[in-house]
Amino acid sequence: MSHEVVEKNIGLMMILIVIVISFGGLVEIVPLFFIKDTTEPVQGVKPYSALRLEGRDVYIREGCFNCHSQMIRPFRAETERYGHYSVAGESVYDHPFQWGSKRTGPDLARVGGRYSDDWQRVHLINPRDVVPESNMPGYPWLAENKIDAKGTAKKMRVMNTLISATCSKCETYSDSDIAKAESEVQGKTELDALVAYLQELGTAIKARR
Ligand code: HEC
Repeated sequence: MSHEVVEKNIGLMMILIVIVISFGGLVEIVPLFFIKDTTEPVQGVKPYSALRLEGRDVYIREGCFNCHSQMIRPFRAETERYGHYSVAGESVYDHPFQWGSKRTGPDLARVGGRYSDDWQRVHLINPRDVVPESNMPGYPWLAENKIDAKGTAKKMRVMNTLISATCSKCETYSDSDIAKAESEVQGKTELDALVAYLQELGTAIKARR
């Protein structure tokens, strides 16, 4: 009987449908905001070293993500080209994550170790020196700019806040890591930092294969 009322009254039916869908959605989504343990780091994935953290910031500042994703999809064509598809546990220390979807250039999720440090340096200064048909811009100033070592420790403390707010099984930086930060990046160029960042991308899983 009451079923008939609902079926004959489209307004009431719409309201009830919205309630049912919202409830179903909330039950699935809300707990994820509170369960930190759902985030499992992949074995071997560590917080970025001081130098790599600075490199990541150069990557973001220069807008590399406008042309490069860091997200290998689980399809044959992608895994044949780039290696094992990306898994969530690899991104636990990425705040903000760099997954992206724009691919003017290749995906970089597993570019670590694919080329030598020298290749990376030459390529970043002028891509056409190693890939003649490349339309990637050159970033020659990175070789000249020094890292501002004074800011590194503070960045690591901010990362600690973000990591502990999102992932209870993750490592945070120790006080001694933070104390060493300034001397680790002192005198290094932005190019050194960016190459260090690139050379470890995605290596935790590649190394296990
Ligand atoms: C305008 C788009 C564009 C931007 C911006 C850009 N790239 Fe590229 N990148 C490309 C293209 C296209 C290629 C492929 C040709 C080549 O190797 O140069 C490429 C290739 C690469 C490769 C080699 C990848 C491989 O697997 O062969 C790396 C590493 C790389 N880019 C890093 C960077 C970094 C780091 C930045 C930021 C400083 C950056 N790119 C900015 C377009 C771009």
